[in-house]
Amino acid sequence: MSAKDTFYVTTPIYYPNDIPHIGHGYTTVAADVLARWRRLIGDRVHFLTGTDEHGLNIVRAAGARGMTPQEHVDDINPRWHEMLVTLRIANDDFIRTTEQRHTSGVQAFMQRLHDNGDLYTATYSGPYCVRCEAYYTTEELVENELCPIHRRPVDRLEQENWFFRLSKYAPALLELFEQRPDFVQPDVRMNEVRAFVEGGLTDISASRSAFDWGVPVPWEPGHVFYVWFDALLNYVTAAGFGTDDAAFARRWPVDVHLIGKDIIRFHAVYWPAMLMAADIEVPRQVYAHGFLLVGGEKMSKSNATGIRPTELVEHFGVDCYRYYFLREISFGHDGSFSWESMEQRYTTDLANDLGNLVNRVLNMVSSYCDARVPDPTGEPGEAEAALGEDLDRAVVGLQSIDRLEFKKALEDLWVFVSGVNRYVEARAPWKLNKTGASDDLARCLYTAVDALRIIAVLISPVMPVAAERLWAKLGLPSALDEQRLPDAGRWGATPVGVTVQRGDLLFPKLEEQP
Ligand code: MSP
Repeated sequence: MSAKDTFYVTTPIYYPNDIPHIGHGYTTVAADVLARWRRLIGDRVHFLTGTDEHGLNIVRAAGARGMTPQEHVDDINPRWHEMLVTLRIANDDFIRTTEQRHTSGVQAFMQRLHDNGDLYTATYSGPYCVRCEAYYTTEELVENELCPIHRRPVDRLEQENWFFRLSKYAPALLELFEQRPDFVQPDVRMNEVRAFVEGGLTDISASRSAFDWGVPVPWEPGHVFYVWFDALLNYVTAAGFGTDDAAFARRWPVDVHLIGKDIIRFHAVYWPAMLMAADIEVPRQVYAHGFLLVGGEKMSKSNATGIRPTELVEHFGVDCYRYYFLREISFGHDGSFSWESMEQRYTTDLANDLGNLVNRVLNMVSSYCDARVPDPTGEPGEAEAALGEDLDRAVVGLQSIDRLEFKKALEDLWVFVSGVNRYVEARAPWKLNKTGASDDLARCLYTAVDALRIIAVLISPVMPVAAERLWAKLGLPSALDEQRLPDAGRWGATPVGVTVQRGDLLFPKLEEQP
């Protein structure tokens, strides 16, 4: 019987050859929203991210700075942690592949493959892209020998390596895809991966001997493991493989690896084959999202379109940053970032729909009820029933997060936010106050405040800072991070008589563009 009791989600481990850009932030925020969502529904969660610190890529980046690889990665590591703080990422672990817990786990895992006869020596010769840290066939190159991803010249490699018998696992992989069509998502990626395997697999190199920046191959002095073997193994070594069997049993198999579509083959073909060879369960799902494009091109450092998360967070705030990318772009597809569309989302969805609503409701409770949440004496009527339907839609809609459909989840959540706006307009508490309809006024303002409480809970995975601020304004006695769905999403949990505080606007008017 599996001892798994934890929802385990990962991001790719990023190359710290340079400082993070918004492409790295994109996967990381998405994984954080999923992790926070699962915590909100009561799951025990383990969320892992980290850095991929070995390989030629890093050797060259370090050399360009006149540093050793270790000096370089140690120097740049704090910048990655800063990104996590800036984006309010609540990860449970951060793995660096230069850590001892990782290197010993890699050696233990690879020794199993060696003992099973899945590794053998042969000479490799062919094209290699250092930025991808990937081998290509000549047919895969584009425009006269360029890497298909980076469109830069590839290196030619010729060396004696250890090889992994990937080809042996083709039938088992095809069976996996057949039995579990959602192993890779979205479907378009599943089809791509299946076609790749059906096209025939060749064995892949598992070691390098031209440089020594990597995890040493225990049985072959002078060789280090190929960086992708080393990197993929972070998902098991950080979960406790080889160091903490009990922790590993509670977490593995991983529920979802979130990755960009550029690294699907490694995660959906090489990785399950490696696990099969070691007799370890394969992941439950690999989800590959699209690229963030800037000016129509994949945003990256190498084509000088790299934008740092802080540039946007300083202007729009972290909540808008997190909201914008997930609301604007369909997660499985490529999507364009633009300053203008981010401004638009800030103003329309956040400042107007949500921020103004909060401000208005709390203003009225302050002026008409001495800032105390009134006792809802009047009977609920049609308007409250309609709002209840909007809430149901939002709560069901949020479950789209489990399918990584963040855009849909946020659209449905905004049906409720708009519903509350409509409700306030229709009930017009300012009129009820004038005409002295105090029962109706109390019912209306109670309902509106209760709706704000629920909104704070529902937005918290995506906008944790705004959610906390809203929660504090409502003067509620319990803590936001103790709230769990479905209970916290039900009507009537706001205590009568608590004192609300208007405070600063949740989403103040944006400063002029810098
Ligand atoms: N180190 C490998 C991954 C090893 S995982 C076992 C690597 N690192 S990377 O630094 O190049 O980061 C790749 C990941 O960053 C992508 O898969 C994607 O998640 C994210 N992105 C980098 N640029 C991106 C965009 N322009 N758009 C969206 N995501 C992008 O590959």
